[in-house]
Amino acid sequence: MPGKNTKASTKSWPVRRRKLLITGSDTGVGKTVLTALLLDHLRSKGLHALALKPFATGDRADAVLLNSFQDEELSLAEVNPFFFPAPAAPLVAARLVHQTVSLPKARRAVESMHKRCELLLVEGVGGLLVPLGPAYTVLDWMRCFEGDLFLVVRNRLGALNHTLLTWRAAQDMGRRRIVIVLMESAEHSLATRTNGRVLRECCRPSPVFSLPFLGENASSREVLKKSAKKFSKTLAQIAGVSSGFLGGLRSAGAEHFPRSSASNWLAGPAG
Ligand SMILES: Nc1ncnc2c1ncn2[C@@H]1O[C@H](COP(=O)(O)OP(=O)(O)OP(=O)(O)O)[C@@H](O)[C@H]1O
Ligand SMILES: [Mg+2]
Repeated sequence: MPGKNTKASTKSWPVRRRKLLITGSDTGVGKTVLTALLLDHLRSKGLHALALKPFATGDRADAVLLNSFQDEELSLAEVNPFFFPAPAAPLVAARLVHQTVSLPKARRAVESMHKRCELLLVEGVGGLLVPLGPAYTVLDWMRCFEGDLFLVVRNRLGALNHTLLTWRAAQDMGRRRIVIVLMESAEHSLATRTNGRVLRECCRPSPVFSLPFLGENASSREVLKKSAKKFSKTLAQIAGVSSGFLGGLRSAGAEHFPRSSASNWLAGPAG
């Protein structure tokens, strides 16, 4: 169970079961890092949040890490019901072992967990159009669920194209509430200085948040724990803008990307 203050918290906050669907512009962009940070933050505030990584290939490291942030409340098979050892798209990795996962089964794996918590974080796999099963992708699977879509983006050259493609695909699937989270990287370039601002401009009214570069060991439990505390204000805003649970910013269309983070590029060259 989450922190001691659960009782008091659920009394003062509206208890609405919600899902946060976490996808990315690509694989390796920070979906698990964001999911773990939000999970730790929400549970530290007394909310009974749980996280799932329903599809995994190659290894189950994401599921193990996420489960450690929810006090191993679920079994590994519950956090990650569909695991295939080959490091490839789930459709391919499943075929290698002569298996397929039907869309109704993939849907049930999430729905059954939702009853067990107030807020369910669901990490996707790879990007939005990764094939999961026969004739369906992550997008088709996520389309089965209500909830806000979190689009995680690594701030680097090329991020704009990947993000805009994903954002448009998410919009085409009828998802109106899309929250973009830009994970800062070690790269420092004109692209990384301006990506946030361009996304905010091109993806209106989706809010665009930025989480700092957390160092080379960002996926370690220790760093994530410290970071969840250090960036609790930003995490509260990210969660709050989506769910309203934490008294976050009121308007989803508000500007969240710090102005100082992009140089004054809109003004164009001086003189
Ligand atoms: N804000 C950040 N600061 C520093 N490193 C980060 C940050 N976000 C992610 N990383 C690093 O990027 C790598 C990929 O992150 P993560 O595992 O969260 O990506 P993912 O999108 O979940 O990947 P996958 O598609 O494999 O599930 C990890 O090494 C992680 O530590
Ligand atoms: Mg991951």
